[in-house]
Amino acid sequence: MKIAINGAGPAGLFFAILMKKTEPRHDIAVFERNGPDDTFGFGVVFSDETLSNFMGADEATFREITRAFAYWDDIEVRYRDARIRARGHGFAGLGRKKLLNILQARAEALGVRIHYRTDITDMRPFEGADLVVGADGVNSFLRERFKEHFKPAIDMRKTKFVWLGTTKSFGPFTFIFKPNEHGWFYVHAYRYAEGQTTWIVETHEGTWRRAGLDKASEAETVAYLEKLYAPELEGHRLLTNKSIWRSFPMVTNEAWHHDNIVLLGDAAHTVQFSIGSGTKVALEDAVALAEAFAHNRAVPDALAAYEAARRPDIGRLQASATISLKWYENALRYNAMEPQQYVFSFLSRTKGVTYENLRLRDNEYVAGVDRWWAGQVRRSQGFDVPIENPPPPMFTPFRLRDMVLANRLVVSPMCQYSAEDGTPNDWHMVHLGGMAVGGAGLVYTEMTDVSREGRITPGCAGMYKDAHVAAWRRIVEFVHGNSKAKICMQLAHAGQKGATKVAWEGSDEPLETGAWPIISASATPWLKHSQVPKAMDRADMDKVRDDFVRAARRADEAGFDMIELHMAHGYLLSSFITPLSNLRRDEYGGSLENRMRFPLEVLDAVRTAWPAGKPISVRISATDWVEGEGVDGDEAVEIARVLKAHGADIIDVSAGQTTLRAKPVYGRMFQTLLSEQVRLEAGIPTIAVGNITTADQVNTIVAAGRADLVALARPHLTNSHFVLEAAAHYGYAEQHWPNQYLTAKSQAMRLAAEKNRTDTELREAAKARPVEELKNAAE
Ligand SMILES: Cc1cc2nc3c(=O)[nH]c(=O)nc-3n(C[C@H](O)[C@H](O)[C@H](O)COP(=O)(O)OP(=O)(O)OC[C@H]3O[C@@H](n4cnc5c(N)ncnc54)[C@H](O)[C@@H]3O)c2cc1C
Ligand SMILES: Cc1cc2nc3c(=O)[nH]c(=O)nc-3n(C[C@H](O)[C@H](O)[C@H](O)COP(=O)(O)O)c2cc1C
Repeated sequence: MKIAINGAGPAGLFFAILMKKTEPRHDIAVFERNGPDDTFGFGVVFSDETLSNFMGADEATFREITRAFAYWDDIEVRYRDARIRARGHGFAGLGRKKLLNILQARAEALGVRIHYRTDITDMRPFEGADLVVGADGVNSFLRERFKEHFKPAIDMRKTKFVWLGTTKSFGPFTFIFKPNEHGWFYVHAYRYAEGQTTWIVETHEGTWRRAGLDKASEAETVAYLEKLYAPELEGHRLLTNKSIWRSFPMVTNEAWHHDNIVLLGDAAHTVQFSIGSGTKVALEDAVALAEAFAHNRAVPDALAAYEAARRPDIGRLQASATISLKWYENALRYNAMEPQQYVFSFLSRTKGVTYENLRLRDNEYVAGVDRWWAGQVRRSQGFDVPIENPPPPMFTPFRLRDMVLANRLVVSPMCQYSAEDGTPNDWHMVHLGGMAVGGAGLVYTEMTDVSREGRITPGCAGMYKDAHVAAWRRIVEFVHGNSKAKICMQLAHAGQKGATKVAWEGSDEPLETGAWPIISASATPWLKHSQVPKAMDRADMDKVRDDFVRAARRADEAGFDMIELHMAHGYLLSSFITPLSNLRRDEYGGSLENRMRFPLEVLDAVRTAWPAGKPISVRISATDWVEGEGVDGDEAVEIARVLKAHGADIIDVSAGQTTLRAKPVYGRMFQTLLSEQVRLEAGIPTIAVGNITTADQVNTIVAAGRADLVALARPHLTNSHFVLEAAAHYGYAEQHWPNQYLTAKSQAMRLAAEKNRTDTELREAAKARPVEELKNAAE
């Protein structure tokens, strides 16, 4: 086969090596605009896992690489004056030039022809090739030439960065976060050979401009940064190599192949350097493409197989990288944090690194986090939490006004559609009672409607007639009498989503018989064939407000510890807040101030009626999930600020379900960053919710300051004893178990301890062999 490769970077060279190795008769030419030694940048970094992957692909290359790299295990984060270390991260650094020299030599030894100093500007060099490979990097010529087929998108990210080097050696992978008079600067520093360290500086665009770095020459940039980092550099110089300030381009392509042309590495997709994987990904692409040819496939089939095999991994990596780079973009948000929390937030910024994952790597580090957390719960909340043998963060108490929760776990509100004329019955008693027995600190009722006509469905629960008080009191008394849980009633009016069928007969589908008239902020139907709601007039508003107040009084009478006003998910109050459903032209529509006017009237009235010692939560949809329109995280912060000013104690940060145009980005803990933004920027406690499924995630969220409480809905339907199980898993003996269940407690704790032991052994066995070990084995 005749193969022409544009670009002698890691992707192009490694692919050439692998193809030539499997079939020496392949005629392979690589075109490279630079000379063999004039590469940009300094070192690249790999993780243990990455390097063990390459072992199988080409042992000769692997041996050379392992001989050349610098290895380290620790991460050190320097934040303001603190230095915190976490072990067990296993990284290897290597000069980019060294890596390329190794690959060049191996390729040429196998008979690959590399045409250096050949800048490709048209397709002539590729004529007659059976396969054309675009391994030509982030500004790929081939991608641009065939852009109508590849359909690339380039998302220029917000921060500015420059890639420098220094002769100063650092032991661990070092991250330095520090401010000066212009703003914050972030350094990623890693040694890739003795006396050779990559030194990437990242900053916010505003800081960059204030510092005059937008107009600075390379020498001026160095002078500025050497002054800023004089204490860290200890007399060493910063080194340049085409070190210009850039924004990171996040490259994606709808297709990676067209005819006999295929994109590899950065040409196809970029992965931002803060998760350190661009070179790894380029090399893995090369492995995947070579493998696709290993089965004697025809070119088009092999290219399709390569793309199908790589897409899911790349999708995941790019998602991880996006989260990581957003941490930097939003880093100003974390500046009020104490160092322990700042560092934990940083280390756990991608979803893959969690509380337990960090504990496996470095037990002592996480024990330090637990101790710090216990201390701050003592200081900020006045609880007598043990510092020496502290519980995991999720098992620390939390106070809102006079209500004290035993732990951070919440059973999220879940409609049961099983009430009759709003009255809860034995189903609700068993359902909610079971959840309370299961150990959560706080249990929510389902969305409970403030009027008969405010129900979503005929089966929805209500708090609109006196008989409801007694029925709910029975449940509240069971919860208080048989568990340590507190109980919150979520009060709501369904608005535009009212008079619909119960979920299992057709969620949001209008009732065919027995429907009642519905109201909303504006007269637009939820579905095309839904009932058209009446746009509320002042009299409707007065009635709804008074219904909320009456329901709140009844909730107090029934003994509830807290109420939540449901201002999310497109129901009545939510329909005012989002401009996508609020089309009003009066003082209740338009600006955020106007859209919040009626929801705040309700909150004000309810706050007055609800006892001062009891807290009020408000659930919001912190984004409408419509790009560039409606509510987004920033507006959610404004919403939370005014809710706080009007007496809300905590914001339950949900998202979406406000418009059919929503395009939610689902994933693990997918709404948690909104909770973090609201909590840190509006300065109000929050509840995180949405696809949070493990106790590990709960601990990560709480310890990182992404929420004060964590609500689980569906996981509780599968396992109402989620908290008891988590307590056993962590060996947390203080968790309350009902007396009737005490015989199970010691068994659960013993079984959990055994399971933890075997899990740890299995993980240890499956772990990538540390590169140091592989290096010895290779020698
Ligand atoms: C600041 C920064 C830090 C990074 N840190 C790391 C890290 O720590 N670890 C890591 O793994 N990755 C890191 N990367 C990413 C890494 O450099 C790239 O992801 C990786 O090099 C991609 O390999 P590639 O072969 O696809 O492209 P490249 O390495 O960019 O190679 C493409 C080659 O094609 C050549 N070329 C392009 N156009 C033409 C043309 N028209 N004619 C002829 N030749 C052409 C170029 O000269 C180049 O040699 C970092 C990137 C940046 C910007
Ligand atoms: C069966 C069911 C009913 C729900 N009913 C309500 C509700 O009454 N009020 C509400 O605010 N959210 C409701 N939700 C949303 C949940 O409270 C929660 O926000 C959502 O399910 C995401 O959490 P999860 O991933 O843990 O399930 C409901 C969810 C489920 C699964």
